[in-house]
Amino acid sequence: MVVMSKPVILTGLRANNDLHIGNYFGALLPLIDMAKTRADEFEINLFVPDLHSFTTPIEHSQLQAQIMHNLKLFVAAGLPLDNPNIRIYRQSYIPAHSELTWILDCFTGFGQMRRMTQFKEKTKTKERLDQAVVEAELYHKAMQTMGQASNYEELSAKQLELSQHMNAAIDLIGQIEDRQGTASVGLFNYPVLMAADILLYDAEYVPVGDDQTQHLEFARDIAERMNNKFGELFVVPKPVKQQHEFFGKDQGLRIKDLSDPSRKMSKSDETGKGIIFLGDTPEAASKKIMSATTDSVGVVHYDIEKQPGVANLLQIMALAEGGELSSVVDRFEGQTSYGDLKTAVAASLRELLSSFQAKLEQVNEAALLAKLQVDEAAMNEKANQTLLKVQKAVGLR
Ligand code: TRP
Repeated sequence: MVVMSKPVILTGLRANNDLHIGNYFGALLPLIDMAKTRADEFEINLFVPDLHSFTTPIEHSQLQAQIMHNLKLFVAAGLPLDNPNIRIYRQSYIPAHSELTWILDCFTGFGQMRRMTQFKEKTKTKERLDQAVVEAELYHKAMQTMGQASNYEELSAKQLELSQHMNAAIDLIGQIEDRQGTASVGLFNYPVLMAADILLYDAEYVPVGDDQTQHLEFARDIAERMNNKFGELFVVPKPVKQQHEFFGKDQGLRIKDLSDPSRKMSKSDETGKGIIFLGDTPEAASKKIMSATTDSVGVVHYDIEKQPGVANLLQIMALAEGGELSSVVDRFEGQTSYGDLKTAVAASLRELLSSFQAKLEQVNEAALLAKLQVDEAAMNEKANQTLLKVQKAVGLR
């Protein structure tokens, strides 16, 4: 029997792509640090959500290697293989994730899933809807001015305009239906699988980026609804606000994309131009830094609003050096050459990446596999206990 009475901290890091420095500083390092220093207070689950990997199309022949690679990244980042308070596992090795997902699916509203922001973004629903609204407004305007037409030609021109806007709007709505229709059901309901990931292990703290907080809210929601209907089945994860208080709004979570500093550095960006991956060669990383988007102010200030690109570079430098942001800011504040700043940032990143990659080379794969085996067995036991409770509650057992 596994006894888990300590509060559980849980997070999943996707394996579609290489992890990047945002994941590294924002998620990996703080968790590993917490596992090392506060192991007597918390139980930490760090897993690879491999079943989430093909909600959008991927190269399947590479998935296996990618999963192992990402697990090695955890170890290279300092994850101790001999610390039983930090568990690592692959989602698909614990079948209860899939089974609980099906059950939760049947208690999840279709409408609630369809409103999930990420589903809408991936199917480009919002931008098309916005365009459709613009067309509808133009239609409305044309309609209002129709009465001003003074002859047949003007009237038929207005009519043509009306039908053009109407058709454009209808076409856009059709495009939304097509996109949503061809997106996989897996993309549609992956928040439910994510809720199962969390609820199976009684996780209270789930550090995720802002793009995932809606999914976390959903996990809380379904847990509460199931508890109301069937009695205390699940531990409800802490509300997002408390999560932020607990983890502190970690700096790493704020790392922005280098080519578009208004966006978070995100692994789903396909071009990879604005992202520093942990596997990037130091040269490739330097190139990305040197071509990072800055601004036309021309003087270094730490101003997230007005100079987001420069602020991001300063932030990255502080994290790469492992020092205080304020001391980096002091060093560069007021300088007028962005080139010098970039050169310095690139140098500190080069150092970080080469030492990280040297550690990656040395990861003991046999020890990693042995740890996975032990942890996945323990996780199966825990997950199956939760699943059985749910199966009993819904009448399957
Ligand atoms: N959906 C998360 C992402 O895309 C990954 C994830 C899957 C996750 N299951 C999870 C994160 C459970 C936290 C908890 O980044």
